[in-house]
Amino acid sequence: MSSESHRVIAIDGPAASGKSSVARELALRLGFAYVNSGAMYRAVTWHVLQKGVDPNDTEANNQSRILIDGVDPTEHLRDDGVNNSVSQVSSVPQVRRVLVEKMHHYAEENDLVMEGRDIGSVVFPDTPYKFYIDASPEVRLRRRAAEGLRDEIAARDRADSNRRASPLIIAEDALVIDSSNLTIDGVVGEIVGRLKMTGMQIPSA
Ligand code: CDP
Ligand code: CDP
Repeated sequence: MSSESHRVIAIDGPAASGKSSVARELALRLGFAYVNSGAMYRAVTWHVLQKGVDPNDTEANNQSRILIDGVDPTEHLRDDGVNNSVSQVSSVPQVRRVLVEKMHHYAEENDLVMEGRDIGSVVFPDTPYKFYIDASPEVRLRRRAAEGLRDEIAARDRADSNRRASPLIIAEDALVIDSSNLTIDGVVGEIVGRLKMTGMQIPSA
């Protein structure tokens, strides 16, 4: 079965734009599986740091494997160390290749809502369902602070937008939604409205 056989809703955008909250809610509403691709890059980053590898050491990172040695890294994914290094680790093409292969594999099994940075532009360029969620830098900073998390989102956004491998860009055919003044339900509503316009059957809320 090819990766075209299931539907993929791509949700991209910068840090704290609301991707996870919106993607999770939308997946529930549609009965699709939810995939947080950022968590995959964070898990690899945590693993690299655990092994004591310098995240700048591209060659060593190339050898890093996605196997997390039987340990569930979930509770560490938002650690300061991971926040500070995840953009560097994610800029290694070999890391991306391994994870993108996994993402394609998920789409062979399920209809997906997948969030990240390059889902519409690179991972699933053929999906007709592409959304780019944005919010002003001030709003995004405020959202992270309200979560009690320290996170240099401006530095991470800069690194993610300027890297050579699959940078954060707005896919040409993506619908851009500015969530600065919207609730999570408001953003989900806009997406559902657009999906209905494409003819997708949406279970009633
Ligand atoms: O939740 P937040 O938006 O802060 O970040 P995330 O989605 O958990 O992603 C963490 C980092 O992983 C990003 O800053 C990117 O460096 C990287 N990432 C990526 O390169 N490509 C993706 N598709 C998703 C995340
Ligand atoms: O995944 P991403 O980093 O893009 O954002 P998130 O983790 O979904 O959202 C960051 C924080 O902003 C969460 O605490 C959300 O509840 C909040 N948020 C909000 O207040 N209004 C929105 N429209 C979207 C998210």
